[in-house]
Amino acid sequence: MSEVSKMPVGDDLLAEINRLRKERNAVILAHYYQRPEIQDLADYVGDSLQLSQMAAETDADVIAFCGVKFMADTAKILSPEKIVVLPDMDAGCSLEDSCPPDKFAAFREAHPDHIALTYINCSTEVKALSDVIVTSSSAETILQQIPADQKIIFGPDRHLGGYLSRKFDREMLLWPGVCIVHEAFSETELLKLKEEHPDAPIAAHPECPPTIVDHADYVGSTSGILKFAKEFPGDTLIVATEPHIIHQMEKALPEKTFIGAPGADGNCNCNICPYMALNTLEKLYIALRDLEPRIEIEEELRLKAKKSLDAMLDMASGTVGKGDLGAR
Ligand code: 13P
Ligand code: SF4
Repeated sequence: MSEVSKMPVGDDLLAEINRLRKERNAVILAHYYQRPEIQDLADYVGDSLQLSQMAAETDADVIAFCGVKFMADTAKILSPEKIVVLPDMDAGCSLEDSCPPDKFAAFREAHPDHIALTYINCSTEVKALSDVIVTSSSAETILQQIPADQKIIFGPDRHLGGYLSRKFDREMLLWPGVCIVHEAFSETELLKLKEEHPDAPIAAHPECPPTIVDHADYVGSTSGILKFAKEFPGDTLIVATEPHIIHQMEKALPEKTFIGAPGADGNCNCNICPYMALNTLEKLYIALRDLEPRIEIEEELRLKAKKSLDAMLDMASGTVGKGDLGAR
């Protein structure tokens, strides 16, 4: 029988995923940018930091990571004794791709008096070359703990780095990477949308360029944007980040309206992360069934990368909460 003909469908597929989850003692972790049907069956849904914390603390034998590869790599770095599967190994990230380890190593060597404060959206090799990792929810807290006279390289996201640099009046050498998803929002279309909804605040992720962030009433991580959605007093919010997060907002706040910020063509489809979208329920089922595709990291490299991640977990501790319990 072919792979396709053996594939359960509909409720049978959900039942099989649930059966395998129990049989394997697996935890399903999902990022807010995952498809709604994956968010709905995950054990935890969260931002990059929350999911790293979950991965470090879980007592499951298997982590099925529904996110992108650098996130699943992070789970393996922090929990090497566990089997970590990623439903689609091609789920990469444009920020990771923008920062080849050999070029980053050369950049560091050219600036020996700088420390490397590095966004978690990078390869394990780049983490191993870094001093402290940050996520968008922990970056501000961590930056404020670094002495004012310490010179800093920030990579690979020049928009997050630029936002931090402006907000804290802190000069940093920025690596020139961007997120293709957040880069695709259009200022012209956003301002047109704002004219149609003058009372709606704008919440933006700091991976957006300044042309978007400068119009935002709130700038923060996915979990921060979700918190803002729950707390702002109005009834309509414009959301400038990957639109699958709107699923959590609509579930938690059915009485409010959430509008995805537009791309240049006037709709927000170009802002769906093509990498996150590679994961499907069918691929998750296969990953739990076969325990493949599996993340493997060479031990010496893992230990080097773990140092910068441990520094993040220490410096960020107590500042952020856990992920949301999935709606299972
Ligand atoms: P956060 O969930 O940490 O805000 O990150 C967003 C992102 O781009 C993940 O790839
Ligand atoms: Fe990478 Fe952007 Fe996709 Fe996040 S949304 S995984 S930063 S490409």
